Amino acid sequence: MRILVTGGAGYIGSHTLLQLLRKPHEVLVLDNFSNSTPEALKRVKQLANADFEICEGDIQDGTRLDTAFRAFRPEAVIHFAGLKAVGDSHETPLEYYAQNVSGSIELLKAMQRHDCRRIVFSSSATVYGEARYLPFDEHHPLQPTNPYGRTKYFIEEIMRDWVASRQDASAVLLRYFNPVGADASGRIGEDPNGIPNNLVPYIAQVAVGRLQHLNVFGDDYDTRDGTGERDYIHVDDLARAHLAAIEFAAAVTGCEAINVGTGRGATVLEMVKAFERASGRAVPCKIGPRRDGDVARMLAAVDKAARLLGWNATHDIDSMCRTTWNWQSANPQGYLQA
Ligand code: NAD
Ligand code: UD1
Repeated sequence: MRILVTGGAGYIGSHTLLQLLRKPHEVLVLDNFSNSTPEALKRVKQLANADFEICEGDIQDGTRLDTAFRAFRPEAVIHFAGLKAVGDSHETPLEYYAQNVSGSIELLKAMQRHDCRRIVFSSSATVYGEARYLPFDEHHPLQPTNPYGRTKYFIEEIMRDWVASRQDASAVLLRYFNPVGADASGRIGEDPNGIPNNLVPYIAQVAVGRLQHLNVFGDDYDTRDGTGERDYIHVDDLARAHLAAIEFAAAVTGCEAINVGTGRGATVLEMVKAFERASGRAVPCKIGPRRDGDVARMLAAVDKAARLLGWNATHDIDSMCRTTWNWQSANPQGYLQA
């Protein structure tokens, strides 16, 4: 299939590209490199031993989108592009609504102009908000608690309405839980700007010596050891879910939201232990106060993904930590040092 991949240079996009190219699918990447570097794409090409075109541009730019659609004539779109930092979204909500929501509308309009009818979208478990019950299934009420989460929620609704307005369109809204890990090669991985907000990149930078210790955000939650529990999902499994989703989208019409997780949770301290095992390095921890907006537990119901996509997660947390360490230790400064 010819697939336009927005945000393909980013963390999840680059891992998905690798699997798309190995399938093989034909891809065109559209990215403005606001949170990534062309070096990631160069490495994907080397790993896949395949070439593809790159269109530097913003999803808010309809003219740029027209150029890309006209040249490549994609049969489907995988839409990763967007801003993703919860904290920043409180500071600059309009920027989040413009890039994520308006950008997605521009993309859908371009799809409509060029008769492209299939889309797989990067949504997030953050759309659920506070758990009324666990695990979260796809029918759980949606009540996101921050502007970033609300952009995902609005985009989901917009895509649902767009699909409903057409007889021949399909959208798969993948609700990722906590993506971590890296390709086994250690050549591509997550490369956050500045001090990481998320747990596993933070632990990795402590292990490699860039940061002194991990601040554990609270140990008084109602969990096995008092620290927050999350459903971590290996980025390779997540990338495979996109391949399954794009094939599903090509075979059906309509809109489906689907969780992507393992259905198993790990606490902060369990992840620290797993990372110490994987890296052979100590990860010093300091217990601190809870982080605003955090919840005790997040856990995915995964039967819908298995039923509709024939997809299951295969990696455990040891594999997630091992591959993260592989990437971090080979690239202590991320892509910068290349
Ligand atoms: P990322 O920041 O590494 O990748 C996003 C890519 O999109 C980057 O290459 C960036 O340069 C590009 N981009 C951003 N705004 C753009 C715009 N307006 N036009 C064109 N390109 C633009 O993030 P990621 O972790 O790979 O996440 C990919 C998607 O998955 C995002 O939509 C994110 O919200 C969603 N998601 C991520 C997580 C996670 O934990 N990483 C969890 C749930 C959902
Ligand atoms: C965060 C986002 C969520 C996003 C997800 C993507 C918030 C409130 N939520 O989720 O919207 O979809 O990332 O992966 O930012 N922790 C520490 N110390 C740290 C960092 C984290 O103890 O330095 C703990 C947290 O309290 C939490 C767990 O580790 O219990 C995971 O945190 P994180 O990786 O930030 O992910 P989420 O909070 O689940």
